[in-house]
Amino acid sequence: MRAVLVANPKGGSGKTTVSINIAAALAHAGRRTLLLDLDRQRSASTWTSIRPGHLPPVYAFRPHPDAQPPKGDWLVIDSPAGIHGKTLSHALKLADRIVVPLQPSLFDMSATSEFLGELLREKVVRGRRVRVGVVGVRVDPRTKAASTLAAFLGQFDLPVLGYLRDSQTYPNAAFNGLSIFDMAPSIVERDQASWQPIVDWVTAE
Ligand SMILES: Nc1ncnc2c1ncn2[C@@H]1O[C@H](COP(=O)(O)OP(=O)(O)O)[C@@H](O)[C@H]1O
Ligand SMILES: [Mg+2]
Repeated sequence: MRAVLVANPKGGSGKTTVSINIAAALAHAGRRTLLLDLDRQRSASTWTSIRPGHLPPVYAFRPHPDAQPPKGDWLVIDSPAGIHGKTLSHALKLADRIVVPLQPSLFDMSATSEFLGELLREKVVRGRRVRVGVVGVRVDPRTKAASTLAAFLGQFDLPVLGYLRDSQTYPNAAFNGLSIFDMAPSIVERDQASWQPIVDWVTAE
């Protein structure tokens, strides 16, 4: 089973949004997709519980010390704010890709800086078994904010996988158990296109 961890120490950075959209993209591609919800707030689990039954399913589960985790083609791991220590090491053991959603603000970038440094010092990341990529959240790629973000990530030699614009489509979709990939392309064509390089990077061999 392949796995992607979605992580950023800051709350509200877009982890659950990125997790559910990647999971839905994989489900639409016909993969049996599991969503490990490490957050006590259970946002990802709530989303799967209201997801309409006719859509490609995403199976959410919570960590459980006694239960065998379910099996699938893909595991998407949605993590809580401030993930560190044992929980982070455990998630790193499972994952072969890490996606870090990041908003181009001073506060978000400074809060994420230490975490990125920590990640890049991990043996599995240095050895390139686990790859790290960043998704710009609430950012238009043509703006100064986008170049500021790219310059910041340049210090870490990290790629920007793609940019997600600031759009009410994200909270609105989540309210209905939907992702960008469940909506009519006539409405969200641009957004679906902005996800493509992100999904391609996650699924690349
Ligand atoms: N690109 C975006 N445009 C507008 N709102 C967004 C975007 N991405 C996320 N949001 C909203 O921002 C809030 C925080 O996002 P969320 O994914 O829950 O972050 P986290 O899981 O890191 O706490 C949610 O209400 C979500 O719907
Ligand atoms: Mg969340």
